Amino acid sequence: MTKILMVCLGNICRSPLADGILRSKVSREGLNVIVDSAGTSAHHTGEAPDARMRAVASERGFPLDTLRARQFSTADFSEFDVIFAMDDSNLRNILKLAKSEEDKRKVHLFLNELHPGSDRNVPDPYFGGQQGFIDVFTMVDQTTDRIIEKLKNGEY
Ligand code: 4NP
Repeated sequence: MTKILMVCLGNICRSPLADGILRSKVSREGLNVIVDSAGTSAHHTGEAPDARMRAVASERGFPLDTLRARQFSTADFSEFDVIFAMDDSNLRNILKLAKSEEDKRKVHLFLNELHPGSDRNVPDPYFGGQQGFIDVFTMVDQTTDRIIEKLKNGEY
């Protein structure tokens, strides 16, 4: 069993999208994988994903309505095998909480799965318009396809 955690800032836009899409794809593929998400900030704890993100996702077959925001905690390092940060700021904030080299080795930039070594960020769509949410959807959909391939190949 592999446990994967998606992390962004608020846990209401990017990481719940990555969580919901990957959960749905692992279930479709019958893979023994647990997926969850969290935010580095506690600002939106308990909230459902942003309505704009939910609309874009559900129109494309991935309802996010049951997800609720929570804050990332140090316990997540022992709970999860792989921790994906949506951008470099999230990455830095996660690494600040790491207590060991083993903790640090679990943390990766999400888009490096699709574009290895290129250190690209999933842009924060929160303060922008609808196209930003659609662009985030496309990136997350493609990257989770790649993660599914790697899971099938036993690469995690
Ligand atoms: P997320 O987006 O990190 O993808 O969930 C954001 C959500 C809320 C805020 C910023 C980014 N905020 O400033 O409240």
